[in-house]
Amino acid sequence: MSLEFRKMREEDLDEVYEIEQSSFSDPWPQEFFKLDFMHDDYVAIQGKQVAGYLCALQVLDECTIANISVKPSLRRQGIAEYLFQELYKIMDKRDVRFYYLEVRASNTAAYSLYIKLGFSQIGIRKGYYHNPVEDAVVMSLERKLN
Ligand SMILES: CC(C)(COP(=O)(O)OP(=O)(O)OC[C@H]1O[C@@H](n2cnc3c(N)ncnc32)[C@H](O)[C@@H]1OP(=O)(O)O)[C@@H](O)C(=O)NCCC(=O)NCCS
Repeated sequence: MSLEFRKMREEDLDEVYEIEQSSFSDPWPQEFFKLDFMHDDYVAIQGKQVAGYLCALQVLDECTIANISVKPSLRRQGIAEYLFQELYKIMDKRDVRFYYLEVRASNTAAYSLYIKLGFSQIGIRKGYYHNPVEDAVVMSLERKLN
């Protein structure tokens, strides 16, 4: 499987939004992706299709992962891990050490991914998510930079 990692573009938005809607019970509105273009939004491209995307926000040496999703038919093939590894390459060059994210308490697939990547749980945000209302697990990772 050959993948390309690049910045998200306007032309990706329809595919990105389709994946978003098939992935979440409380998807981001499509406008969020347009507004998010000023941040670090990336896609993994397989062939000519969007296989997954990751939206991040960097402030100084901190990076928050605001969204990540992989096309349902392409899951469990390492695409989410690939998106993180490629993001690290970019953020390492900017001396970013600290990563933060939130995950629904019941989202075992995403939670397992973050544990595999070395994240640990640092807190709970009560009732953070809607549709259905659910707690968020807050996780962080500190990367050792050379
Ligand atoms: C979570 C998600 C992004 C993972 O994407 P993916 O490309 O399938 O993940 P990968 O193939 O890179 O998996 C890497 C590791 O994550 C864990 N993992 C991924 N999916 C899992 C699942 N369904 N059950 C258990 N562990 C899982 C495993 O540890 C896996 O490593 P392994 O395959 O060697 O066991 C994907 O399931 C998804 O898009 N879910 C819907 C959107 C979502 O929940 N996003 C996260 C919001 S916080």
